[in-house]
Amino acid sequence: MDRTTVLSAARLATLVEGFARTPSYAGLATAITLLVGDGRIPAGSRLPSERELGAALGLSRATVTRAYATLVEQRCAEARRGAGTFVRVPAGRARAHDRALMPRPGDHDAIDLGCAATSAPGELAAAYAEAAAQMPAHLGGHGYFPAGLPGLQAAIAAAYDARGLPTDPAQVMVTPGALAAAAVVARAFSGPGERVAVESPAYPNAVDALRHTGARLVELPVDPGGWDLDAVGAVLRRARPRLAYLVPDFQNPTGHLMDDAAREEYAAHLRASGTVPVVDEAHQALALDGQTMPRPFAAYASDAVSIGSASKSFWGGLRLGWIRAPHAAVDRLTRARVTSDLGAPVLEQLVLERLLAGGPVLPGHLARLREQRDTLAAALARELPEWRFRLPGGGLALWCELPAPLGTALVAEAERRGVILTPGPVFAAAGGLDRFVRIPWTRPVAELEEAVRRVAAAWAVVRGSTGAAIGGAPRARVVVA
Ligand SMILES: Cc1ncc(COP(=O)(O)O)c(C=O)c1O
Repeated sequence: MDRTTVLSAARLATLVEGFARTPSYAGLATAITLLVGDGRIPAGSRLPSERELGAALGLSRATVTRAYATLVEQRCAEARRGAGTFVRVPAGRARAHDRALMPRPGDHDAIDLGCAATSAPGELAAAYAEAAAQMPAHLGGHGYFPAGLPGLQAAIAAAYDARGLPTDPAQVMVTPGALAAAAVVARAFSGPGERVAVESPAYPNAVDALRHTGARLVELPVDPGGWDLDAVGAVLRRARPRLAYLVPDFQNPTGHLMDDAAREEYAAHLRASGTVPVVDEAHQALALDGQTMPRPFAAYASDAVSIGSASKSFWGGLRLGWIRAPHAAVDRLTRARVTSDLGAPVLEQLVLERLLAGGPVLPGHLARLREQRDTLAAALARELPEWRFRLPGGGLALWCELPAPLGTALVAEAERRGVILTPGPVFAAAGGLDRFVRIPWTRPVAELEEAVRRVAAAWAVVRGSTGAAIGGAPRARVVVA
């Protein structure tokens, strides 16, 4: 997926066929942007020379040069001296990489909906004070706990027991967040050339953690309507990957929740292909409608390695997550873990242990998220009636489908108006999905209302500038690699 694709002039001429010629340079630039957004030109591809494309399209070389310059200006392409022009997914100032979510430092001028995380619930300050009072008891020791503070391991194990998955504290390893947990699992069980299946769309940083082991990624489709288990089964039978990274609980970014029957069927497909599920449950505690949650995926797949996080249920600043694994996998995970760190901070572990004693999530936190979700959904329905989204029963974000693959262009325009968002392609392992943007409901209601007003104004601009393309634009597809 990472190799540079070289597009021939003939191929590009076929792809842009029928582009608007009013004027030609602008129509050509728009057509190329839409193709990149839709995934039909992979990001990073080298465009043909101006002369060759001009000849293939019956345009002057100067017109193609102007189209390429427009793409560069709009940050949809990059000109490299002596090497050519390369298309890219435009990145705003907040995104250092095209496909990683990069939390930004606080910016009081912008409404940051790029990072799906809330401020700390009020109870956190007291939990920190109480934990600080417990610290003297720990200061006489070395403070290194590669598996986690025993009290916290026990509290996490008890939370799995309560969800119907009996767990021994020795099966739990505390990590500095769920992303670090995913990186440990990737290092322990994957390597160069190994096949690893990842959902698409999916949380991109975990996908990158898997990719960085040198694994060959295979996409498991998650459709706007949910998991297509027949398609999943077909991919697993064909690729027989070693690992599969799944987010069955309020999937990021779609918000889907996999029901018990689907978990059972999914687990059977994985067993048949000899694939170990890596189940990211970062959003599991965020059920907003009082619903009974399905049993943990690992209850259906005894070899599953589960990942959890304190970031979404309590606060990202705790920087705590965990791995729950079968006993047989713990030693291997511990050896993989100590190559990067030797344990999470003691103070934060004490804080989390205290918080978990009161339950997996604070009731006030859920109430706040519910109100914010409903406010965001109502504002979008009112201001942007041509968009479509499903209202998830939990999690942190709406996955919005636009009437055309303009997500990247919209995000750039919204950023100019002080709203930071993430476009669909960031969540697509192999490109595409520019028909989508993710909008988290993680800010206070007044900010969400204001953000939607600004996004609606940005949409009017983006839609207006490409109005001709909207009707005929092809639908985004979730590509099974
Ligand atoms: C599915 C998923 N996994 C992991 C993480 C990262 O969690 P942590 O802050 O615990 O590293 C996130 C954060 O957005 C997420 O959505």
